[in-house]
Amino acid sequence: MTNRIPLAAVLGHPVAHSRSPVLHGHWLARYGIAGHYVPIDVAPDHLADTLRQLPSLGFVGANVTIPHKEAARALATTSTDRARAIGAANTLTFGADGAVHADNTDGHGFLANLTAGALGWNAASGPALVLGAGGAARGILHALLGSGLSEIRLANRTRAKAQRLADDFGPSIKVIDWDVAGDALSDATLLVNTTALGMAGQPPLTLDLSNLTPVCTVTDIVYIPLETELLKTARACGCHTVDGLGMLLHQAAPGFEAWFGRTPEVDDDLRRAVLGE
Ligand code: ATR
Repeated sequence: MTNRIPLAAVLGHPVAHSRSPVLHGHWLARYGIAGHYVPIDVAPDHLADTLRQLPSLGFVGANVTIPHKEAARALATTSTDRARAIGAANTLTFGADGAVHADNTDGHGFLANLTAGALGWNAASGPALVLGAGGAARGILHALLGSGLSEIRLANRTRAKAQRLADDFGPSIKVIDWDVAGDALSDATLLVNTTALGMAGQPPLTLDLSNLTPVCTVTDIVYIPLETELLKTARACGCHTVDGLGMLLHQAAPGFEAWFGRTPEVDDDLRRAVLGE
């Protein structure tokens, strides 16, 4: 085993759109590591079989993306606390015996991006408004609560889904109505869009931003376009803004370190490589 070239993969369905092979490929080349990172399209019915086979083929781990995140967590032999709390995995590490260890680094990536980019924001500065209650929101709420934020206002088109997250994550989550979410901005110091609204090809985000103040840091998980309409409006209002690409880059770092043994840097070279510039 020791002389094998380490292999890692991203498992998704579809998977062709994933930027992860470019991202990890950039780090492998930069650090001169003899390893490979490949996209593998895995239909949902084949996920369990694939996870059984990959370790014996020389794979040391994998990222998992839509639609496999919940199933991968459930199939794993062991899971980190955060993967269990979030209920989904995005990073798997394989033991030599074929054991699958699941982690979820989405929230870590979100927070690392926010703290790297949002000079001035800290968890003690005030309440946050989070939009959306899907899988991405779960990771982000977990990370924000872990950072010590004491009030998170959560708005989702389907209120019952936001309520389910509040039930799971505790009383710091205050559910508010989607239609009046903008009202919660007057004293908020952080606004996070976790929905796909505003992404190229998706409907626009129509949140009323008239109560936004310049003390509010605004971040979007959408990164196509890099500056969404939300970020553009926030910037015009004098807010500090943080784009979503950094979350993708930072969530990848723990996996790379676990598989290839080197802590990778997230910097402008990497951003340019992932943007295809
Ligand atoms: P992800 O795992 O990427 O978060 P998801 O679980 O499908 O994806 O969640 C998508 C989120 O975007 C949800 O909060 C969804 O709201 P609903 O729970 O009401 O479906 C939100 N969303 C998607 N399309 C939307 C739209 N047109 N208007 C408002 N919210 C929308």
